[in-house]
Amino acid sequence: MNEAPGRRQFLRMLATSPALAAGGWAALLNGIAQGEDLITAADQAVNVLEFEDVARKNLPPWHYGYLATGVTDDSTLKANRDAFARYQLRTRRLVDVKKVDMSVTLFGTTWDSPIMLSPVGSQRAFHPEGEIPVARAAAAQKHNLIVSTHSSTPIEAVNEALGHPAWFQLYPTDDWNVTKAVVKRAEKAGCPVMVLTVDSQNGALRDTLFKLRRAAPVKCTDCHIGGFVYNAVASRRPMFEGLDLAKVTTQLPLDMTWDVLPRLKELTTMKLVIKGIVTREDALLALEHGADGIIVSNHGGRSEDSKRASIDCLPEVIAAVNGKVPVLVDGGFRRGTDFFKALAMGARAVCIGRPYLWGLAAFGQAGVETVLTLLRKELQIDMRQAGTASIAQITKDFLIEG
Ligand SMILES: Cc1cc2nc3c(=O)[nH]c(=O)nc-3n(C[C@H](O)[C@H](O)[C@H](O)COP(=O)(O)O)c2cc1C
Repeated sequence: MNEAPGRRQFLRMLATSPALAAGGWAALLNGIAQGEDLITAADQAVNVLEFEDVARKNLPPWHYGYLATGVTDDSTLKANRDAFARYQLRTRRLVDVKKVDMSVTLFGTTWDSPIMLSPVGSQRAFHPEGEIPVARAAAAQKHNLIVSTHSSTPIEAVNEALGHPAWFQLYPTDDWNVTKAVVKRAEKAGCPVMVLTVDSQNGALRDTLFKLRRAAPVKCTDCHIGGFVYNAVASRRPMFEGLDLAKVTTQLPLDMTWDVLPRLKELTTMKLVIKGIVTREDALLALEHGADGIIVSNHGGRSEDSKRASIDCLPEVIAAVNGKVPVLVDGGFRRGTDFFKALAMGARAVCIGRPYLWGLAAFGQAGVETVLTLLRKELQIDMRQAGTASIAQITKDFLIEG
């Protein structure tokens, strides 16, 4: 039973009752502070953070754990958010900001907004239709979408819902025949860009997920047939359908090195973007080995325990790349000013993970659409407040580290 609307009405009644005025306000504020004032429709949301509580309420704790987890004590996850406070905006006045152009061009395609959707696996954990409502929302709101190797929906069906081919994210596995088949399938589906994730070798210590999973009243293996051994995981993913997974043991081979980039480039005409770079040294190696783009990312704080925020890694990567290829970033972006800060540092686009999943788990397609709309609106407001009418005008002069 959903208690939230009734409780909220009750709190509001208390708040407007003249006799109870003082106590009523206190009860209302207390209710909000306790997270009891949950929104009941996407269009009630004031900001994207409000979707998280609804997602937590809607999902079984172990699926919420998959969404929310970081690694060990979640400190890299926390760092991704906390770091934004160290950067402030230097806002300018009396600039004509009547028209704000948020468009960006990447690999020959122009997008209305620099806000893109990071690849996320297994979205059926959050909604019965998985990636389909996300693709429809991305299409309706005109945002770029990156689809995971581990999607619960075949890439072809996602592309159909999107209306054009998405970017495809690759986990190559340790069997090159499987890698080849997966890459060829994404290419055949028309995907123009392949994103190779390199920050997530097996073995992430996802304590938050593991604790919530332990609390599950049913065995996870009742649904996840074969358990969490990698080839059993892969066998449940449509991207591996029909492939012989007997030799597959991991999503990213532990002995994978930089020569995988030229090998992949030989296989495909798709542009190759490398996701998970956090240092200048690796940015230079990525360029040397033929990367067409870089995503600065620590996997949303859910792979490494570096305790270093994505936004803090961005400047050194941008400096090393020196404009040769586009640099994107993700990790902890929740407010318009977060996007503004990354763009001011020189990011060409910024991706989000959890916020659109909160929207999906809370209200399906409408939730994802509202998350995207709110983030665009916030960025537009922040651009106007700063006196910037286009993405190109957002430069490092608008940023100060304090
Ligand atoms: C539930 C979940 C599943 C993810 N699955 C993948 C994946 O399959 N491939 C990948 O490259 N990144 C994956 N990521 C990482 C995201 O692409 C992205 O880097 C991260 O979510 C960005 O941080 P944010 O969630 O704070 O916005 C996943 C993230 C989450 C939250």
